[in-house]
Amino acid sequence: MTIKWTRDLNTGIDVIDRQHMRIADYINELEDIHHQGDRQTIGRVLDELMDYTLSHFAFEERLQEEAGYEYAGPHKKVHELFARRVRQYLDRFRLGDDVAGEIHGLLRTWLISHIKHDDADYVSAVRDNMLEIVADKQRRRREGWLSRLLG
Ligand SMILES: [Fe+2]
Ligand SMILES: [Fe+2]
Repeated sequence: MTIKWTRDLNTGIDVIDRQHMRIADYINELEDIHHQGDRQTIGRVLDELMDYTLSHFAFEERLQEEAGYEYAGPHKKVHELFARRVRQYLDRFRLGDDVAGEIHGLLRTWLISHIKHDDADYVSAVRDNMLEIVADKQRRRREGWLSRLLG
């Protein structure tokens, strides 16, 4: 089943939503190709998907730490457990097991549920912090402009 991006999957932080959509695209691509049985292509998509997902996790974890999100630790743990599960599947895939369908199912259900629950939970803490950083930058830019003008 293809992931259709619906509004309830948006977290409200654009950069995060774009990353989630990209992961969903990869998962959909995996669904498209896994029936064709071209192991090389499947392997390549799996590697790209895993790389991209891991860097998304790292990005989220950094945002959460910077914002002082109280569940940053457990959230990171959830990411790690998931990554470990996927890696086990990838190992089986490399050994020749036909697990692309199972991996696809796991990724699809896990991702949707993680976005809707765990990710949705950190958004308000992180967004407030991001807004502050942006406001701070703008203030500093204004002050720089003002002091140049006065000086
Ligand atoms: Fe996420
Ligand atoms: Fe997450």
